[in-house]
Amino acid sequence: MFNLAAFSTLLTLIPFATAQSAVWGQCGGIGWTGPTTCAAGSTCVPQSDYYSQCLPSSSTTIGSTTSPTGSSSAPGSTSTVTGLNTVAKAAGKLYFGSATDNPELSDSPYVAILSDTKEFGIITPGNSMKWDATEPSRGSFSFTNGDTIVNLAKANGQMVRGHTTVWYSQLPSWVSSGNFDNATLISIVQNHVSTVIGHWKGSIYAWDVVNEIFNDDGTYRSSVFYNTIGPAFVPTAFNAARAADPNAKLYINDYNIEGTGAKSTAVYNLVKSLKAQGVPIDGIGIQGHLIVGQVPSTIQQNIEQFTSLGVEVAFTELDIRMTLPATAALLDQQKNDYQTVISACNAVPKCIGVTIWDYTDKYSWVPSTFSGQGAALPWDENLVKKPAYDGIIAGWTQ
Ligand SMILES: *[C@@H]1O[C@H](CO)[C@@H](O)[C@H](O)[C@H]1NC(C)=O
Repeated sequence: MFNLAAFSTLLTLIPFATAQSAVWGQCGGIGWTGPTTCAAGSTCVPQSDYYSQCLPSSSTTIGSTTSPTGSSSAPGSTSTVTGLNTVAKAAGKLYFGSATDNPELSDSPYVAILSDTKEFGIITPGNSMKWDATEPSRGSFSFTNGDTIVNLAKANGQMVRGHTTVWYSQLPSWVSSGNFDNATLISIVQNHVSTVIGHWKGSIYAWDVVNEIFNDDGTYRSSVFYNTIGPAFVPTAFNAARAADPNAKLYINDYNIEGTGAKSTAVYNLVKSLKAQGVPIDGIGIQGHLIVGQVPSTIQQNIEQFTSLGVEVAFTELDIRMTLPATAALLDQQKNDYQTVISACNAVPKCIGVTIWDYTDKYSWVPSTFSGQGAALPWDENLVKKPAYDGIIAGWTQ
């Protein structure tokens, strides 16, 4: 069903066949130097200040008269509205998206839903752009699995979030245990960031440049980067990222910063300081790994504080887990909780979109990480929509 080799061949041929951008290709945006006209049958549509895309002419109008045939409301969902991304865009957002991972791409029914741009306008590789995947030994880079996901997104007409360049985890021991001095580790960070982001230059909407750098009390997390370089590792990474892809939005990303609190304050203060120093940072990624019945009441207030700094905000890894088994009451509470989070993003113009951390419980990271918990996503293990799906729709449409 999904033939990557054929897509890759097609993508390779298009740039040589025409000076116009292909359907689904980039055709404009600040800093874009490529073609600004689109192949026949498609129209250049701005998706943000930084990204315009050639969309098939018949699909450029949101809420067109096209009837939503082909989408069925599965048991558990009562929605008759078509698509989480369609609804998010109709609400003025840039996208609704999902994470994915390479092993899942052999599952054709899974890929069919992942590839449906009515549901998902952007995808994030869950693992294949991390340091252990991209630079497993010093100076030796591997982009194959990341390329697979970028090529899938391009074939689907989706954007990509890049995740992640500087993180203390899934970090090869040659970095974490290398005993490098400050200057050497700075050059290693610069080389990693510029090589990885440079490889996918022009293909990534936003990068999580630094990930999970704070403890919950707002102090810096102990890591080889912080312990060796000090706080300077952060501007080092952002400066290298901007140089490698001037059009990509550059994010700081973390968890437990959904509501106000010490960790959110630390992120706020750091971003304020970075901007004051002229360090290039464009966004704050709120991961959004939440628990049913425990969604903070201060999400909108927190997003408003973040965006007051002049950066955009996105939920980057949303899922809302429960203690199993999933009961009707828990699924109903989960629906309300998804609606609460989406509503908060919807209410703040510079909250530009939401990504869930994969879309189906079949491939959620939760059960293997939090014993006895799961059912965190809007599709169940059989790829059937749950009440949470309707909660997301309600959050975008209320
Ligand atoms: C490492 O070097 C950078 C660049 O010179 C400097 O800003 C930073 O403070 C140094 N870190 C430590 C821990 O000395």
